[in-house]
Amino acid sequence: MKVVSIVGARPQFVKAAPVCRALRERHTEVLVHSGQHYDYEMSDVFFEQLGIPAPDYNLAVGSGGHGRQTGEMLGMLEELLVELAPDCVIVYGDTNTTLAGGLAAAKLTIPVAHVEAGLRSYNRTMPEEINRVVVDHVSDLLLCPTRAAVANLLAEGITDGVELVGDVMLDTARFFAENVDIAATVQEFGVEEGRFYLATVHRASTSDNRERLASVISAFSTLDHPVIWAIHPRTAKNLESLGLGDMLKRAENIRPVPPLSYIQTVGLLRAARGLITDSGGMQKEAYFFGVPCVTLREETEWIETVELGWNSLAGTDESRIAQAVAELSRPDMHPDVYGDGRAAEAIVASLEKRYAH
Ligand code: UD1
Repeated sequence: MKVVSIVGARPQFVKAAPVCRALRERHTEVLVHSGQHYDYEMSDVFFEQLGIPAPDYNLAVGSGGHGRQTGEMLGMLEELLVELAPDCVIVYGDTNTTLAGGLAAAKLTIPVAHVEAGLRSYNRTMPEEINRVVVDHVSDLLLCPTRAAVANLLAEGITDGVELVGDVMLDTARFFAENVDIAATVQEFGVEEGRFYLATVHRASTSDNRERLASVISAFSTLDHPVIWAIHPRTAKNLESLGLGDMLKRAENIRPVPPLSYIQTVGLLRAARGLITDSGGMQKEAYFFGVPCVTLREETEWIETVELGWNSLAGTDESRIAQAVAELSRPDMHPDVYGDGRAAEAIVASLEKRYAH
């Protein structure tokens, strides 16, 4: 098979790494980077650490409004896909890159394989929810990480091409866990194992809103242990433009750090007392490593983590966050709800079954 894989944002690099590895054992892969993320810490460091081959094409789309960013990618991807004429296109997750890749291919009647299909927050104010709903409805092969994802698709009348393959982020987590030196990581960040929280905040609904972002800072500043806060470029810009930079500087137990590499993330996560995040993927990564999580949202696509008691939804209200952190615990039940860490192999097998000549 000749497969074009389209990536562009940080979480997609983590998801594509094991699929690239498995795919290239037997097939031709052309890797396209949209350029949605372009800073070294948001992109190159993931290619280096995860051993992802250099992209064959980088569209260098950069940042911009949703329409412009998606539209520019759509135009460029269409031209490229006409030229490459692959047997299928793989897109990952729910970013604007996923939407552009899925639409460009579907309009050319090139089959779309969607990795992480079927996830729903049922919150249509999230740009990611729009992206995933649209992409699922134009996809030919829907590669679901969980049973809940399969059920969500069924509820929307999608049954053809739906496969439960497990979660590719677990493949990456298992593959690289051994490379992580927890003691060295905690030393690098000047914290003690089990006596700090790891935090990330980047979702538009949290980080573009002054009141919510201020409430999150207040909550972090009252916690019983230091908070290592890895600050996404979007949040860094907003902290300044919303006039919250001084508030953050005054909060003594918050330690802002630049975006973390994959190895640093796993090291800190495994050593942390808990994760506090509005990220989707990190809620799951916390579960993989048996670390409890507080999610700064009102809903989650990863409902298993909540149902099993490893994750609680606290929104952005200061007192709810503080209470959820105080109640963090590690439940006894920790089943393999995300598969066996071999999702990439299952994905390649599904692609072969459907598209190999
Ligand atoms: C995007 C995804 C989100 C995903 C996140 C992971 C969409 C709609 N959102 O959000 O689902 O969880 O990636 O990080 O696709 N910026 C930089 N350098 C970079 C990238 C971004 O400075 O390398 C800044 C720019 O100011 C940019 C802002 O971050 O405007 C937002 O970037 P963008 O790619 O639009 O969305 P994310 O917030 O990263």
